[in-house]
Amino acid sequence: MARHKLFATKPLAMLLEEAKGENRLRRVLGPVQLTALGVGAIIGAGIFVATGEAAHNQAGPALMISYCFAGLTCVFAALCYAEFASMVPVAGSAYTYAYATLGEVFAWIIGWDLVLEYAVGSATVANGWSSFFQSLLPKVGIHLPEAISKAPIIFDTTTGEFVRTNGIVNLPAVIITMLVTAVLVKGIQESASFNALMVGVKLAAVLFVILVGAFFINPDNWVPFAPYGWGGVVVFGQHIWGETVGGHPVGMMAGAAIIFFAYIGFDSVSTHAEEAKNPSRDVPIGIVASLIICTILYIAVVAVLTGMVKYNQIDPGAGVSMAFSSVGLAWADAIIAIAGVAGITSVLLVMMLSGPRVFLAMSRDGMVPPSFFGAIHPKFKTPWKTTILIGAGVAIMTGLLPIGALLQMTNIGTLFAFVVVCTAVIIMRKTNPDAHRPFKCPMVPLVPILGIAFCLLLMFSLPTANWIRLIGWLGVGLVIYFVYSRHHAVMGRHLAHEVAAHGASPRGQAVGDPDAPPDAPDRPVDTDADKR
Ligand code: ALA
Repeated sequence: MARHKLFATKPLAMLLEEAKGENRLRRVLGPVQLTALGVGAIIGAGIFVATGEAAHNQAGPALMISYCFAGLTCVFAALCYAEFASMVPVAGSAYTYAYATLGEVFAWIIGWDLVLEYAVGSATVANGWSSFFQSLLPKVGIHLPEAISKAPIIFDTTTGEFVRTNGIVNLPAVIITMLVTAVLVKGIQESASFNALMVGVKLAAVLFVILVGAFFINPDNWVPFAPYGWGGVVVFGQHIWGETVGGHPVGMMAGAAIIFFAYIGFDSVSTHAEEAKNPSRDVPIGIVASLIICTILYIAVVAVLTGMVKYNQIDPGAGVSMAFSSVGLAWADAIIAIAGVAGITSVLLVMMLSGPRVFLAMSRDGMVPPSFFGAIHPKFKTPWKTTILIGAGVAIMTGLLPIGALLQMTNIGTLFAFVVVCTAVIIMRKTNPDAHRPFKCPMVPLVPILGIAFCLLLMFSLPTANWIRLIGWLGVGLVIYFVYSRHHAVMGRHLAHEVAAHGASPRGQAVGDPDAPPDAPDRPVDTDADKR
């Protein structure tokens, strides 16, 4: 019976029924707002901060191809996300999809992984924001003391080691995290309009870089095109394809694994399905449109950057602004920095918006205590307690940890979530072939299989330490699952009850018939389920 409990799945009919329930988030987002949320979540620290370093240390001009590869990986995953998001338009994203297909324990693992992705990703982005912000301060005569300008350690990506700095805390990163948390507690409506403004500024900056920078391209800078080669795949320390420097993979693939960060965010659109006016149509549009817009812009930015400056002379810390200074356009530096600050703020906003919604979905299933994680503010209608909890965690990480390690950790966690979503699409097509799918991922199972393969390739192009950290995080998650969630999760308890009553597992009923009446256990929200 214990085995059945672990793999209890949540019926599709029950998920859809829940979407109609009370204590829901407000449905206020249309397709343009969702696409703006996607673009807001996607373009940020990755293109503005990580690109210079990846071009300099990992891929050279071949970073253009890295962006194509990472973009293609995201398209495969996005098509799978879009199918699920249109089918199960409730908050929770990959977590909800896993619960409907793979079972309770997998759902827990993926929910836990998503919290990691969004929280560590937010800490990375706040760190990138701080770099831009601090590059602006001297222009107005302000010089922050070193102690409050950076984390106490940095991560050397070429050696993979942590090095002590003279800093104590990255204070600007902590402050922006607290401000964004306050905006989010107040509510999605205000957040979405604030986001739209920031997205406009950011797009203008990216177009400025492309259109002005294009006049300064010297094609000689694109030769050699792939100075570090095309590979960079290492499987648990075993060197499989391409070169390594200091034991770490370099090459086009290794570059793709780093700049993959620049694409993270499109999946967060699916976490807003519950707030969409017409989720089955608008969520797929939001996901795919935002991804296509960003891919085109990214490839153009990298072409300009590596065309303006020889890859080995790009400033790893401030690639884009340094490229403009180097061709005598130092004034452009300030414009890019201001837009960078605005652009990265919107990324932070969307990323920090997503984590609490995953917890909200998990609390509804009794996976985490609903009295805390499921609490919706009576006036603002936001999951305010988890927003503040996650905000505090992000502030601590961003204040004390280096951006390099945070970025790689975010990438591996996100890629893992993508693997699960692609797998879940294949399973759902088998278990629920006739379910209503307003958006269908094309060419199943080919597209999900390609998604899984590409994601795994990128995961193995990251330094091995990331695998160890990911496995450690998931291990902690499993302990929490077995100590708390397993005994409180509503589906597993329901299943155990059914088995005791009828002497048989109702597993077939669990996912087999989407039209079956939701034989739901008591809803955990607004109950004291966590205290039972
Ligand atoms: N894609 C987001 C960024 O680059 C996370 O900042």
